[in-house]
Amino acid sequence: MKIHFFLILLWKFVYCVSFFSFENRSESQKCELRHRGKNVKFPKQFLFGVSTAAYQIEGAWNEDGKSPSIWDTYTHLHPERIADHSNGDNAAESYHRFEQDLRALKELKVDFYRFSISWSRVLPKADTTSQSKKAIDYYNMVINTLLENNIQPMVTMFHYDMPDELSSFGGFTNDIIIKYFRFYADFLFKTFGDRVKKWITFNEPFDYCVPGYGNADFPPMVHAPGVADYLCLDNTLRAHASAFHLYKAKYFDSQKGKIGITISSRFYYNKNKESDEVVDRAMQYALGWLAHPIFGKSGNYPFIIIEDITSNSMREGLPWPRLKPFNFHWTKYIKGSADFLGLNYYTSRYVEIRDPPGGEIPSWEYDSRIKYSLDKKWKRAKSNWLYCVPNGLEDILRWIRDNYNNVEVYITENGWSDDGELVDLDRIGFLKAHLQAVLNALNDGCNVTHYSHWSLIDNFEWNMGFTEKFGLYYLNMTSRNKERVAKHSAHYYKSIIESRKIPSSDNFV
Ligand code: BGC
Repeated sequence: MKIHFFLILLWKFVYCVSFFSFENRSESQKCELRHRGKNVKFPKQFLFGVSTAAYQIEGAWNEDGKSPSIWDTYTHLHPERIADHSNGDNAAESYHRFEQDLRALKELKVDFYRFSISWSRVLPKADTTSQSKKAIDYYNMVINTLLENNIQPMVTMFHYDMPDELSSFGGFTNDIIIKYFRFYADFLFKTFGDRVKKWITFNEPFDYCVPGYGNADFPPMVHAPGVADYLCLDNTLRAHASAFHLYKAKYFDSQKGKIGITISSRFYYNKNKESDEVVDRAMQYALGWLAHPIFGKSGNYPFIIIEDITSNSMREGLPWPRLKPFNFHWTKYIKGSADFLGLNYYTSRYVEIRDPPGGEIPSWEYDSRIKYSLDKKWKRAKSNWLYCVPNGLEDILRWIRDNYNNVEVYITENGWSDDGELVDLDRIGFLKAHLQAVLNALNDGCNVTHYSHWSLIDNFEWNMGFTEKFGLYYLNMTSRNKERVAKHSAHYYKSIIESRKIPSSDNFV
């Protein structure tokens, strides 16, 4: 009897504690942003879209002559590395179900659709000696159908899925990749460039170089931090510039398109409010590493990065720096090699100097000497790295305006993960706050012209498999037809696209 009474008391205590902590959490965790500036509407010429990537949605991993990409091989050999042991063999089956994607795109009334082309699907040997006619037909069908429906195609040429063929001789660490990518780009411009007017060479180099060639979290699982990941970034920048110049020299006159690169970055806030030097350091080590050579004045890596890595390399006893600055030829070639900056913005962090530096010696973590932290008030998504910080988007757009001569910015990704619920009020809150950030930045003179939400449909979230959903449309994975079902956020986004205004979150369905 006594034990029974005690258990009830204990239960009540636990219930009260958890209730109050939940209350505190929901009360203090915010995902909002106030309007600033005179315009409450997005300008007429501002374009709205949604994004996907080939490996995350297409499926059909070995059909019509497609050869494996590093993601096919990795997920097949290492299912234990994927949260739910899944892979992209079928994913959303978009290779066979584009009409279902199109229905969703039309329903949303987007101005453009950002998707990626699978390199090893169109060119199974990675070079142009063999071309898959059926794969080319598929992408032609996608592009033509989009245009018939007044939706502009925006094509990412490379979104993580390198042909396995190339990986066997070093992938991005072998500078022959520059040549391979140039020929692949030439093939894409020649085949699709009469209709595709917006090209993105690479998606998030930092996010495939550091996990792929630094800490071995992603394929090809090379563990050589502070060396191979830096080589990967270096060769990516040179391959990008090479494709850009090819386009300008050979295709621009007849095709008149734009070509850029997509870089992911968080914004950083000073934890100790002493000096803003740490913010600049963090920004240079994230966005600046790739953006500074292209959009900055020197055509080279940010000075602070060159300086740090040269002196760290000497201290480590190396006779050469682990990061070689670009020579005169390459600085001239890379500087200005983009018509726009593609920005993927998801979240932000607080920063302070880490003394002594952390991480392996050598590594990006060690070289950058930064300690990251969070704010308890930031609301967290399903992904453990994703916190809602909309002011970070406004601030990063301002930082780009001030540091890169107000270059044109396309926001190529921004999104929120959850369990895939149809009533996705948190995604609506995220979308609302981030579009408010874009509008505030526009009101403040930032040259941002496109916003693309990640993602159209729930899809394969890399190492997290299908456990984290980013879609505006729910994907019924267990049904035969894999229906795409509009979540509440899809209706909300559509209402913004139609009115070009941010409505309140409760009057849209
Ligand atoms: C990538 C996407 C990914 C998304 C959410 C971006 O960094 O480009 O492929 O699904 O983030 O993690």
